[in-house]
Amino acid sequence: MRKLILALALASLPAAAVAADKPDWAFPVTEKVQPPSWDDGKPKTAPDSPLSLTRAQIDDMFNPPDWRPDLHPPMPDVVAHGRQPNVRACGACHLPTGNGHDESAYVAGLPAAYFTRQMLDFRTGARKGSGSMTAIGKDITDEEIKSAADYFASVKPRAWVRVVETDAVPKTYVGPGNKRLVHPDGGTEPLGQRIIVIPEDEDIVLNRDPKKGFVAYVPKGAVARGEALARTGGDGKTVPCGICHGPTLHGIADIPPLAGRTPNHMVRQMFMIQNGDRAGPQSALMAQVVAKLTVEDMLNLAAYAASLEP
Ligand code: HEC
Ligand code: HEC
Repeated sequence: MRKLILALALASLPAAAVAADKPDWAFPVTEKVQPPSWDDGKPKTAPDSPLSLTRAQIDDMFNPPDWRPDLHPPMPDVVAHGRQPNVRACGACHLPTGNGHDESAYVAGLPAAYFTRQMLDFRTGARKGSGSMTAIGKDITDEEIKSAADYFASVKPRAWVRVVETDAVPKTYVGPGNKRLVHPDGGTEPLGQRIIVIPEDEDIVLNRDPKKGFVAYVPKGAVARGEALARTGGDGKTVPCGICHGPTLHGIADIPPLAGRTPNHMVRQMFMIQNGDRAGPQSALMAQVVAKLTVEDMLNLAAYAASLEP
């Protein structure tokens, strides 16, 4: 029924608009049935860090771990601790280094003006897609936004996602916190037209340790197809990305960089802009870019952008 209503609603749009099916792989949600817990209950440690922390300490949303203070400047309070009860510490999900996980966002090196605008869009509801960010947006003060924006803009981007083209991927499931993990039963499955992002090292990622990031499996040929579309615009299908995001996709002024950032985050954003779930004032510039894209186009573009040095 919802499909039918959607079809009727879309029938009134210009013929060029594409009704793309939601790419569930880019919107991971914790699965109801979970494999037996991976956690042995023992405190976690990491080589070359003095910390030893329990799972509860690691997942404390108001005092997340800082395994590697050498990898980032001193954090302002909102990033390190947030503020009870709604402004959870940015460093918990985005990590103190801003590299983030696949289900959140890579925010290191984002222009402060862009970052601030996103927080205001979460606050007004113009940007949807994350309950956590909406709740934070409604409660965070302008001063807190400024200190978080200035902080993450000052953190040096680093290589975080390794893009690998393949036909088959390890079997995965979506664990607690919307996090995709390799299934403990093992085995592989066809990748198909998806991007599957898993930790390079599961313990490191579950510890919220920014030492190592992710591997993103993409379909064979996706990077080259994405590069061609990004450079040429595909004969009027879209607009060459470099015009606004810079020739190397490292951003221009308050337009965000795309190079080396998490591919599924980028697919989510393109899909949400196409479907009106991300409709802040500046996203109008992107609306024309995504109007005619299929999910496969978004996948290819994201695979290409993610494969670049951040
Ligand atoms: C509980 C986890 C969580 C916490 C804590 C959190 N975030 Fe987020 N954040 C997310 C998720 C998830 C997204 C991605 C939403 C999406 O895909 O549209 C996000 C996206 C963002 C973005 C948008 C990035 C972009 O380029 O699109 C900004 C900016 C941001 N967060 C800032 C913050 C700030 C500031 C704080 C601390 C006050 C914070 N976040 C705390 C989960 C979190
Ligand atoms: C006409 C200018 C323009 C062009 C061309 C353009 N973009 Fe954008 N893009 C923007 C702006 C502006 C934003 C930030 C919107 C906002 O502030 O909400 C953005 C945001 C994005 C985001 C979200 C980033 C994030 O951190 O959440 C993605 C992904 C993206 N663009 C991909 C692309 C791709 C891929 C192309 C080429 C096919 C492209 N853009 C071409 C202007 C453009």
